[in-house]
Amino acid sequence: MAAIDWKNLTFGYTPTNYNVRTYFKNGKWGALEVSSEETINIHMAATALHYGQEAFEGLKAFRGVDGKLRVFRWEENAKRLQASADAILMEPVPSELFLKALVKVIKLNEEFVPPFGSGSSLYIRPLLIGSGPQVGVRPAAEYLFIIFVTPVGPYFKEGFNPVDMEIVRDFDRAAPLGTGHAKVGGNYAASLKAGVRAHHDGYAASIFLDAKTKTHIDEAGPANFFGIRDGKYITPDSGSILPSITNMSLRTLAEDLGLSVERRHVLVEELSTFDEIGACGTAAVISPIKRIHDRDTGQDYLYCKDGKAGPISTQLYNTLQGIQLGTVEDKYQWNTIID
Ligand code: PLP
Ligand code: COI
Repeated sequence: MAAIDWKNLTFGYTPTNYNVRTYFKNGKWGALEVSSEETINIHMAATALHYGQEAFEGLKAFRGVDGKLRVFRWEENAKRLQASADAILMEPVPSELFLKALVKVIKLNEEFVPPFGSGSSLYIRPLLIGSGPQVGVRPAAEYLFIIFVTPVGPYFKEGFNPVDMEIVRDFDRAAPLGTGHAKVGGNYAASLKAGVRAHHDGYAASIFLDAKTKTHIDEAGPANFFGIRDGKYITPDSGSILPSITNMSLRTLAEDLGLSVERRHVLVEELSTFDEIGACGTAAVISPIKRIHDRDTGQDYLYCKDGKAGPISTQLYNTLQGIQLGTVEDKYQWNTIID
């Protein structure tokens, strides 16, 4: 096992032994290569560098209570990478190739999967880029698909403790008919200024509104938004947010808990009516929110008055983590065991 302080990992890059790569050239994907290099060598006119042909994924592997290695819902990440590729005209990675690369990179780096009970996991980062040269604005003819892994702790340093976030109107992360629904680098570039300002001002993340009307909530930095009220799990329906796999899973678990699920526009004014709110994503898992500050109106919306996450968010969090760690029955077969 690698000499790592598993319990104190943050969401940062820790080097591992290997990554895996394959190139799409002359109309086909080549053999899967194992590399111990942390760098890639690409053409200076690669479309990824100039025209933003770049998409990525984020998923996790866990060491369960039984010592087994579980990957959570990889098929959904493979499908979403295909959808992201389609959104910016890249060559899609077939699911079989995605799985082959995934299994290989996890097995090669098994000693970097954090132990059960550490609160950490192995973050898996698939990356697809246009590696072929173009000077005119058009898609590349060559692509590189790479997966690296790195052991991580919680995305927000607070972990499952409630955080503050702020609503911004002076930045948009995505346009209504743009690429907000795809996991492409450009969306993250567009979110950096608001995100860095939010951190500087003491907030865990910025909450973006719909770019057209600025009346309803889109998403919370690198995570989807949800609210709980009157036995309902309510989450935004928007064409400019990332369709979160965590949110999809929480909707199922919420129904199992007897909540009804609503996917619809969530107006900013509605924030004052929720009992619990949170941000959810692979990296963030569930991050309960205790205060939302509106930068423009100065209004504060307050939750978690006792300083702790609400009961429904806690139940959802425990169930999701339990499934991922093998302590709660995986009745939907979301895990793939790697052996
Ligand atoms: N929204 C954005 C912008 C993200 O980057 C992520 C992270 O992947 C999410 C939402 C959550 O998606 P998922 O639950 O699939 O990780
Ligand atoms: C994730 O939740 O997997 C993400 O990719 C979020 C962020 C690190 C971009």
